[in-house]
Amino acid sequence: MGKQVISTPVVRRLPRYYRFLGELECEHIERISSKELAQRMGLSASQIRQDFNCFGGFGQQGYGYHVGELRTIIGEILGVDAHTPMILIGAGNLGRALAAHLDFEKHGCELIGIFDSNPELAGTQAAWLTVQPMHTLVGFCRTHQPQAAVLCIPKDGAQKLCDQLIHLGIRAFWNFSHYDLRINNPDIIVENVHLGDSLMTLAYCMHHSE
Ligand code: NAI
Repeated sequence: MGKQVISTPVVRRLPRYYRFLGELECEHIERISSKELAQRMGLSASQIRQDFNCFGGFGQQGYGYHVGELRTIIGEILGVDAHTPMILIGAGNLGRALAAHLDFEKHGCELIGIFDSNPELAGTQAAWLTVQPMHTLVGFCRTHQPQAAVLCIPKDGAQKLCDQLIHLGIRAFWNFSHYDLRINNPDIIVENVHLGDSLMTLAYCMHHSE
């Protein structure tokens, strides 16, 4: 499938579609109408049709969507089989939790190295990987050419590390550092994650519910 430009709000919904379609597959449901899918997902049927039209439609009048086909197509768009080599910096509580509990491969990436500046952590295990000291980073990147990095370090060191990593060939950041990275290169991608934002959304909903 060729590269297509899809709007950011639609891209943000794609992982959720992918996840729901996976659940349908597990339930051995082969096809579904936009109305049924909308009900399951708490969206409107027209929203779903509009979203799927962005990458070609795929629904058939009177048939609905073929669950497996649609999931495959959305998976291709998301790049879930890309196995993008990724490193994680900051083997503290968060970094270790992500390494241990997130299936990177299922989500398009392959975690190939974990690094930390604390010499006491070098050589310890984080999930199935051994934490490496920062002075090995340059050599590691030359040899293994990771394309993406997860930043699980405090905000103070985030920008400097980011600049260094870009020089080492990193072109995408999954940034948990609570710092908005300043990057002039439009080819570098940053996904900032603030779990607190999600919690505040919950707080808002509780605050405004009857
Ligand atoms: P932690 O203190 O357990 O781990 C941080 C690790 O980063 C330490 O092992 C430290 O040695 C290492 N580190 C610090 N600077 C480094 C550098 N320049 N290069 C390499 N390693 C470095 O902290 P924790 O709990 O794992 O949290 C990490 C960061 O993530 C914190 O700044 C925290 O505020 C943030 N955080 C963000 C969340 C989010 O939703 N974005 C959620 C939870 C934490």
